[in-house]
Amino acid sequence: MDQIAEVKQKTDIVDIISGYVDLKKSGRNYKGLCPFHSEKTPSFMVSQELQLYKCFGCGEGGDVFTFLEKIEGYDFSHALEVLADRAGIKLVKSAPAKDTSKEKLIYEINELTALFYHKVLTATKAGKPALAYLRDKRKLTLDTIKVFQLGYSPDTWDTLLKFLTKKGYKATDLEAAGVIVTKSSGTGYIDKFRGRVMFPFSDVSGRIVGFSGRTISDRKPKYLNSPETLVFHKSNFLYGLDKGKIAIKQEGAVFVEGPMDVISAYQAGIKNVVASSGTSLTEDQLRLISRYTKNITFCFDSDFAGISAIKRAISLAEKQHFDIKVAMVPEKYKDLDELVHEDTELAKQLFANAVVIYDFFLVAALKRHQKTDPLGKKNIVEELLPVFSQITSPIVRDHYVEKLSQELNVKADIIRSLLTNRAQVADYEEFKEAPHTSTSDKAVFSKSSYEEYFLALLLQSNVDIIRSFLYKHHQEDFANVAVRETLAALKTYLHNAETYNVEAFIDTMNVDFKNFVRDVYLWDVGSISENSQNIVKELTLLSSRIEKKAARDKITALAKKLKLAEAENNVEAIKKLSEGIKELSEKLL
Ligand code: UTP
Ligand code: MN
Repeated sequence: MDQIAEVKQKTDIVDIISGYVDLKKSGRNYKGLCPFHSEKTPSFMVSQELQLYKCFGCGEGGDVFTFLEKIEGYDFSHALEVLADRAGIKLVKSAPAKDTSKEKLIYEINELTALFYHKVLTATKAGKPALAYLRDKRKLTLDTIKVFQLGYSPDTWDTLLKFLTKKGYKATDLEAAGVIVTKSSGTGYIDKFRGRVMFPFSDVSGRIVGFSGRTISDRKPKYLNSPETLVFHKSNFLYGLDKGKIAIKQEGAVFVEGPMDVISAYQAGIKNVVASSGTSLTEDQLRLISRYTKNITFCFDSDFAGISAIKRAISLAEKQHFDIKVAMVPEKYKDLDELVHEDTELAKQLFANAVVIYDFFLVAALKRHQKTDPLGKKNIVEELLPVFSQITSPIVRDHYVEKLSQELNVKADIIRSLLTNRAQVADYEEFKEAPHTSTSDKAVFSKSSYEEYFLALLLQSNVDIIRSFLYKHHQEDFANVAVRETLAALKTYLHNAETYNVEAFIDTMNVDFKNFVRDVYLWDVGSISENSQNIVKELTLLSSRIEKKAARDKITALAKKLKLAEAENNVEAIKKLSEGIKELSEKLL
């Protein structure tokens, strides 16, 4: 057995997930509130038999490895290590692939670089001015400086280069890590960061992926960041997430402008804060945060540039179904950093009183234009349409249509139709741009799709019940191809097998339908599946509905043919078709 299989065998997914989610038994499966999106009624299912989980609300699903990757931000090999450790299995290290060893080397270099700069800041003469800057000017405590492992890069050409070369690292590897750069004139290398306060970028699992350095002598640029490397991609990095993730799970996430805002807030006890380091928010960053929360608050500086800067972020966040709020730093203060130091209580209140982003824009537009003036009305609507048209929830959208209509004293229907037009244009534009992706892996079932419900109940019952229902129907009674295929495979499986084991059954299925069957098996049919009498009752009901639906479909088809036959006056065909329809109609009674 390979080690992955061994770890999997010795691990129980229910055990692991119970560490994060309060799971209750529901039929054959377990059920709880999904940790990947916010919900009030549980739609997150875990199967002990299949060792799989699936959320029927947001579509997230997978095995125990995927779970840890998603919730902790581990990569696969780290998840494997953690689980092996837990199961008491010693992993035999196979020779790592070339790429991963390169990544490891970069992490190692970053780690040493951070340590080195931290040492320079806290324990050397060269670091004194920087330390004074952080403590006196930025009001940071030594403790905070330690927690964030802040450092100082000496204002020399190659102190770090020399230090790391002496330790045996090659210049090409240091360059790959982004801590040194080639000299602009001629050959040779120099340190990338010089004379800067250093902010190590730590990922969710605590590894250092890169750096930002702030000048302490007004040089340009103010902040210098690591280049993209094998381990640093600025589009999916969030500063502060490693330290804030627990608070973020509980309180939602606040997005601020930069690392200094994160650190000051943290020092003041506001720990649910992250920064995207000078870039506007990306889809990947949102996906990262959605592992922890679906509630986000944008904290805008008082010099906030306006709608266009944030529009794309709103649209991306809406698509991932975030609840979005805004908190605006009062004009008196430049940014959150300043506010926190001047008035910590006010900063805390600011987040507690954050407003839904659409109210924020509504108020701003009403302030900017004269709402009693016809042209003012037009401007207000024109400013808000692009924002409101992003709203994915029809309920929320309608709320703002009504609100705007009342404010402007304009008929709601007019605003509604403008909004619909606008949304259609936007949809079409996006359709043209977006790559076409399948949504099939996000299957969400409901009892109204009763063929699938029938299958779910059947699969979660026992072999006797399965046998008694399996042969009641013709294949063509089912409209859903996947259901049809599964039932056919189930017949074959039971023909050859002594007992019913769902895992063994899924193994016999065509790959195209394996995931479908797993999902159906994880579907929460509730307490019904605990009592076989109830299952039989429900299955009988569904069975007759399926039969009736099939009859109705056939009647419709025959009726079409009948019309043609009548047009041709084909007496024989008319007779045959009418009889067929009559026979089927009896089934419907
Ligand atoms: P700001 O200029 O508002 O800086 O840029 P700040 O965060 O208030 O910094 P302090 O308080 O003067 O130290 C906001 C963010 O934009 C990024 C940084 O992440 C910064 O925190 N930035 C800014 C850069 O990446 N490069 C720059 O040259 C400037
Ligand atoms: Mn600042």
